[in-house]
Amino acid sequence: MEALKQKILDEGRVLPSNVLKVDSFLNQQIDVKLMEAIGKEFALRFADDSIDKVLSIESSGIAPALMVAKELGVPMVFARKRKSLTISENVYSVDLFSYTTQKHTQVIVDQRFLTAGERILIIDDFLANGQAAEGLLKIISRAQAIPVGLGVLIEKSFQSGRQLLEKANVRTESLVRISSLVNGHVTFLDDGK
Ligand code: G4P
Repeated sequence: MEALKQKILDEGRVLPSNVLKVDSFLNQQIDVKLMEAIGKEFALRFADDSIDKVLSIESSGIAPALMVAKELGVPMVFARKRKSLTISENVYSVDLFSYTTQKHTQVIVDQRFLTAGERILIIDDFLANGQAAEGLLKIISRAQAIPVGLGVLIEKSFQSGRQLLEKANVRTESLVRISSLVNGHVTFLDDGK
């Protein structure tokens, strides 16, 4: 997606440890117009897949997931990383380990919000090692719902997330694929074409 690529080139900053900082439009301040365009793009890509619900994970997946759900005219549910006061005891819960942060996080979805047989589209901001996506797939499986695919805004193709999802036979759509962040420079996978 050209607009997202350009935004990364204009505003992204490469931090040590292969991390791309995009807080000016995605991770803290949100570019709403860009999110709207992203919502339309994913809605087009999954138009023929009879999606019943969009599933994401807090916090940075919420903004794009909301826009995708709006375009598809379906509800959006996000997995929580903290138990809230109002959450019930009947939850699907998985432990996520982040290689990036080296931390374990418990991720939960109330069982009322995922139903057996529902066709689920997962939306998230980054695909790095695929731990978040794998965790959401486990939750979908426990709910006996159907994982139709995963849509991510930024795929770090030099990390192992895509391979993990291909192994699991999950259709993965990335709006932008980054092949390298070496020397502070963003290289896109299709730059060499
Ligand atoms: P994975 O789910 O693909 O395995 O990712 P990983 O555990 O490695 O990443 C942990 C967190 O770091 C996730 O966000 C993920 O989106 C984010 N992340 C990974 N690589 C990058 C990067 O290059 N740039 C940025 N900006 N984020 C990256 P999180 O901790 O859940 O944060 P948030 O959703 O609450 O903002």
